[in-house]
This record gives sequence, C-alpha cells and structure tokens, in this order.
Amino acid sequence: MGKCIVVLLFLLLGGNVAAQSTVEKGRYLAAAGDCVACHTATNGRPFIGGRPFHTPFGTLYSTNITPDKETGIGNYTLEDFAAAMRRGEGAHGNLYPAMPYTSYYLIADEDIASLYTYFMRLPAVEHVVPNNDLFFPANLRFGLSFWDWAFFDKAPLVQPEGKSPEWQRGNYLVNALGHCGECHTPRNFAFAMKRDEKFAGNILEGWDAVDIRAESLRRQGWDRAQLRLLFTTGASERGTAFGEMFSVVKHSLSRLSDDDINAIITYLLDGDDNVAVNGGDSQLAAQQYAQGRADFVAYCAGCHGREGSGVTPVFAPPMDRNAGVRAESPFNMIAVILRGLPAQRMNRTNARAGMPGFHRELDDARVAGLVNFMRSAWGGAETPVTQEKVAEIRHQLRKDDYLGVVE
Ligand code: HEC
Ligand code: HEC
Ligand code: HEC
Repeated sequence: MGKCIVVLLFLLLGGNVAAQSTVEKGRYLAAAGDCVACHTATNGRPFIGGRPFHTPFGTLYSTNITPDKETGIGNYTLEDFAAAMRRGEGAHGNLYPAMPYTSYYLIADEDIASLYTYFMRLPAVEHVVPNNDLFFPANLRFGLSFWDWAFFDKAPLVQPEGKSPEWQRGNYLVNALGHCGECHTPRNFAFAMKRDEKFAGNILEGWDAVDIRAESLRRQGWDRAQLRLLFTTGASERGTAFGEMFSVVKHSLSRLSDDDINAIITYLLDGDDNVAVNGGDSQLAAQQYAQGRADFVAYCAGCHGREGSGVTPVFAPPMDRNAGVRAESPFNMIAVILRGLPAQRMNRTNARAGMPGFHRELDDARVAGLVNFMRSAWGGAETPVTQEKVAEIRHQLRKDDYLGVVE
C-alpha cells in the first residue's frame, strides 16, 4: 500500500514536472519566435492582439492568441494551431502573411506542440481586436489561397552535411522561429520574400533592415564578440539596435540561452573570413568635406565625441568603426540624422537617452556633406552620397509620416 502511494505520487509529480517543462520550453520558444512583438498592441497586455499593421492595402490587426474561447484561440486543437502556424490557415480562413507562417512553416512538430501547451495555459483574456480595414480585393480572405499557391515557397530547411550541430541549430533559429528573413529579405511586387536575395536587406517602417549576409557583416567589422553584445544588450562598439531591431533584441534575442546566441552567430558569420574590413582616413576626410566636419563638431560631437569615439555604447555609440557608417547603403545614417531615435529601455539597468532628429536644422546638402565626412573618415565608403539621394530619403520619410515624431 505504502509503496503504491509512493509510486502514485512519483507518477503524479513526475507528470507535472514534465508538463511544466513543456510549458517552460513553450515560453522559451515563444520568445525565440517573438510572438509578443506582434500580438501585443502598444502598451497592451502581452498576446491579446490588436497591433495594427499598415499595408498598401489598408490596415490589418493581429489577433488575440490567449486561450479565451470567444475572442482568442481557446477552441483551437493542436492541429488547428499547427495549421495556423505552418500553413497560415486560421479558424476564420486564410491568414494574411503579416503572420510570418512563411517562416514558421519550418518549426519542428515538437516545438509546435510545446508552443501550443504554453499558449493554452496562459490566462484567457477576453479582448476583441478592431476589424481589419482592408480594400477590395485584399479584404477577401479566399484570395490568400491564391497568394499561398503562387508565392508560399515551402522549401524544407536544408541542413547540409558537414555543418556542425551548432551551425544547424543557428540555421533553424534564424530561418524558422527567428523569422529574420521576414524583415531582412527584400520582397517582390506581391510582398513575397525573394529567396534568391535572402538577407540582402529591405526597407521597412522607414529603416533599412540591413544586409546581414556574412560578407556584409564582416566588411562592417562585426565579429562574434560584438554580435553577442548586440544581441544580448542591444548595444555594441559597432552600434546599437534601433527601430524594429530594438524590439527583436528586447523581446526575443536577449532572452535566449548563450548556446542559442552562439548558434545564431555561427550561422550568420559562416562564409569567407578573409573579407577586408572597411576603414577610413579622418584627416583626408576633414579636408575633403570641411563643412561636414564642421557640422559634426557643432551638432554631433557633444554626444558622439569630436573624433567619433562615442561615450559608451549605451550613452552614445561610437561613429568610428560603426557598422552603419561602414555600411554600403547610407540609408540608416541619413534616416537616423533626419528622424533621430527615441529614448529606449531594454530593462531596469539598460536604458538609452535617445537622439534628437535634425531634419529642420540640416538641409539636404548639409546632411550629404556630414554623411560623406563620416563615411570617409570612419567607414571607408567609396561612393559619395548626393544631395539628391538625401532629398529622396527625406521625401519618403516625410510622406510616410516619420519626420517630426521625434523632436
Ligand atoms: C510579424 C508579426 C507576427 C509575429 C511575429 C507573430 N504573429 Fe501570429 N499573427 C500575426 C497577425 C497579423 C495575425 C492575424 C492575421 C490575419 O488576421 O489574417 C496573426 C495570427 C495568428 C494566429 C491565428 C489566430 C486566429 O485567430 O485565427 C495564431 C494562432 C498566431 N498568430 C500565433 C502566433 C504565435 C504562436 C507566434 C510566435 C511563435 C506568432 N503568432 C507570431 C502577426 C504575427
Ligand atoms: C543628445 C546626444 C546625441 C546627439 C547630439 C547626436 N546623437 Fe547620434 N545617437 C545618440 C544615441 C544615444 C544613439 C543611440 C540611440 C539608440 O540606439 O537608441 C545615437 C545613434 C546614432 C546613430 C546610429 C548608429 C548606431 O550605431 O546606433 C547615428 C548614425 C548617429 N547617432 C549619428 C549622429 C549624428 C550624425 C549626429 C549629429 C548630426 C548625432 N548623431 C547627434 C545620441 C546623440
Ligand atoms: C521586425 C523586423 C526585424 C526582424 C524580425 C529582425 N530584424 Fe535585424 N534589423 C531590423 C532593422 C530595421 C535593422 C536596422 C536597425 C539597426 O541597425 O538596429 C536591423 C539590424 C540588424 C543587424 C545589424 C545591426 C547594426 O547595428 O548594424 C543585425 C546583425 C540583425 N539585424 C540581425 C537579425 C537577426 C539575426 C534576426 C533574427 C533573429 C533579425 N535581425 C530579425 C529589423 C529586423
């Protein structure tokens, strides 16, 4: 009898521990998949949905994924959940690819099951999200089956032989759960990712989700140590994470284990390691772009240092050897100078004061001069930026309402 109770207790507790560890695993995978970034409205409770997505076809809202039976996914079976996650088939019809099933289709069965267990055990929150405001024909969900048929490329994840388990884990995290390509891969006319230009960079919400292919990262001086700092703290000697990338670091990457961060870095940096790092010549640059140098001293040096060495990555990142200054595309430099960056808080001990925008103080010619000075002093860019290029970016940012938000 006594023995029986011990066995029973053991089974009960053991079962619970197993269920608990599935929940924990699901929580971890939800962080790796960054579900919270999209399923939370500004200042809302996590996972209750309602975040707007502005598309050329109108506005779409993310849904409530707490297990509320009326307004959430409480009636979903594991199969329903898997269909939504991997095939974009929701209970009310096909999902819009704003839900990144075009990457999540690669998530392994057991990870889908852990995610399902985790979401089903969250507190159910009754919350009705706003109705989508999409134009014809994008408002018709059945049209999405045509999109899926034409553009949803379900190529399996290839794990080449000879790559280490760490590399393979990185491959899985980056392409499946991390859905990095959803932002970093350019899209075609129908908003599908261009597979042959994977990770080549893409403009989104007024920022350049930069080229993150190995060669480009190396040319900008990224190495394991600096990428680890970026992914775990959001700031490094090569620059900070901002725009949507700040949220990716805050809610997703900074919550991953050291092993998983190492795996992601191993995968990202795989390639030719003999790429020359871009450099610059600050004396030559000051002669060539005297007005740019003067503007840097007048407007920027107070925070970024006269020689561009920054203060600390958190207070103001260095410009000398900054990845953005070294990047081939000047888009983010120009956009940061015009827009500025809001104050941000990663956690209790890691906050940044932000940076004012200079779209009023500096006209197109002055911005071009400043960018050219910085790029040739500290970045080694070969082609100078024209005033017309700055005008074009300024026009685009103004049209999309990104200027004047940060004062
Ligand atoms: C990039 C933004 C984004 C991310 C990241 C994201 N979702 Fe979604 N998700 C959406 C949007 C938008 C919808 C609604 C699509 C629609 O209505 O067609 C949606 C719909 C869903 C649905 C269907 C719900 C329903 O009511 O039918 C489920 C389930 C879901 N998401 C789960 C998840 C999980 C789990 C994660 C994390 C692993 C996740 N999502 C990450 C944007 C996102
Ligand atoms: C009040 C202090 C301040 C001033 C003045 C300032 N910056 Fe910044 N700058 C910052 C901070 C802080 C960040 C990082 C903010 C973040 O990532 O959230 C930043 C980020 C940047 C970045 C993005 C690169 C990266 O790695 O994050 C660029 C480029 C930049 N500044 C250029 C300039 C230029 C050019 C000027 C002068 C026109 C200037 N800044 C003036 C504080 C300042
Ligand atoms: C929601 C969109 C989004 C997703 C998802 C996303 N990124 Fe980014 N990422 C950006 C944007 C925008 C930038 C440019 C701003 C910046 O430099 O921080 C960026 C910048 C970067 C940079 C360069 C940082 C710098 O300062 O030059 C790296 C490296 C990077 N991302 C890696 C990743 C990896 C790895 C993933 C997947 C785990 C990922 N990103 C997912 C939007 C995204």
